[in-house]
Amino acid sequence: MEAQIEELWRTAQTEWQPPLELNQLEALRLKYLGRKGLVPALMQQLRSVDPADRPRVGALINRLKEFVEERHATLQAKLLEEQERERLAHEQLDVTLPGRRRYVGRRHPVQQMMDRALETLISMGFSVQYGPAVENDYYNFEALNFPPDHPARDMQDTFYLDNDLLLRTHTTNIQVRLLEQIPPPIRIVSPGRVYRREEVTARSHLFFHQIDGFYVDKNVSMADLFATLRQFLQTLLGDEVPLRFRPSYFPFVEPGVEVDVACRSCQQQGCALCKHSGWLEVLGAGMVHPEVLKNGGLDPEVYSGFAWGMGIERLVMRSYGIEDIRLLAGNDMRLLAQF
Ligand code: DAH
Repeated sequence: MEAQIEELWRTAQTEWQPPLELNQLEALRLKYLGRKGLVPALMQQLRSVDPADRPRVGALINRLKEFVEERHATLQAKLLEEQERERLAHEQLDVTLPGRRRYVGRRHPVQQMMDRALETLISMGFSVQYGPAVENDYYNFEALNFPPDHPARDMQDTFYLDNDLLLRTHTTNIQVRLLEQIPPPIRIVSPGRVYRREEVTARSHLFFHQIDGFYVDKNVSMADLFATLRQFLQTLLGDEVPLRFRPSYFPFVEPGVEVDVACRSCQQQGCALCKHSGWLEVLGAGMVHPEVLKNGGLDPEVYSGFAWGMGIERLVMRSYGIEDIRLLAGNDMRLLAQF
């Protein structure tokens, strides 16, 4: 067996000589060191060698194995280095080319306005709660004192999912849910997307965004409503913004008001956005109707409250002079990239 190993030694010395390609090197590695290679075969044979001779013969095999391993590592490293040098010599790198621009995502202008409004309201002591977008008739209409034949309930205006379930038409749907769950004082604002089955035009869309505010406690007055909304709108839109409160009607408030802000698009000169009135209606508000308080389990002789609901798209359109709401719903990158 020793003669056999000597023989293999000599062959190995000649075989493991450069020049060798990477693939030849790999074939050699398999030939000697692979699972069915020459070195493992010798190890097999070692078992049948006389135990007295085994250490000596074993040492011979090990020397052969180490020789092959060393040759392989050295030759391979050299080949890889050569390859790399070759690659670098031919590679052309133009460091004056502009880098690849990474697109930076940003929040939608409607979301930005919503976040700013919520930040202001939170600073005024309100907390944020989210109502469900899929609502039943009760919380969206009935509990809010809508008469059964109110036109808003019409299939023309509301997306019904079945007889009872619908897509909320306003974020006011959270009011009676809150009354049922939270004892006064309640100071909550509720943002969300609302849905209306309307013709899509420059001024109306199938969906838009609202924030509703809801304040219920003892001794809440109309003066609180005015003061709160004035502070809120002036913080959001700038101290100088002229506001206008007008009497109005919503089934769930009494009395009700609408609030207009001066149209900025035309500096109140009149434009398509404000329908040439110089004013833009941004929110509805009022004192919470006694029926709504009762539906929420509160005694209207003891508790009172005010509420408001505002459209976000309107405010965005006003701020940037956008005259078509479809631009905000369309997700056109040419528009969105500007914010
Ligand atoms: N829900 C009304 C709408 O969508 C807005 C509104 C008016 C909300 C008066 C209120 C409110 O909470 O008190 O047009």
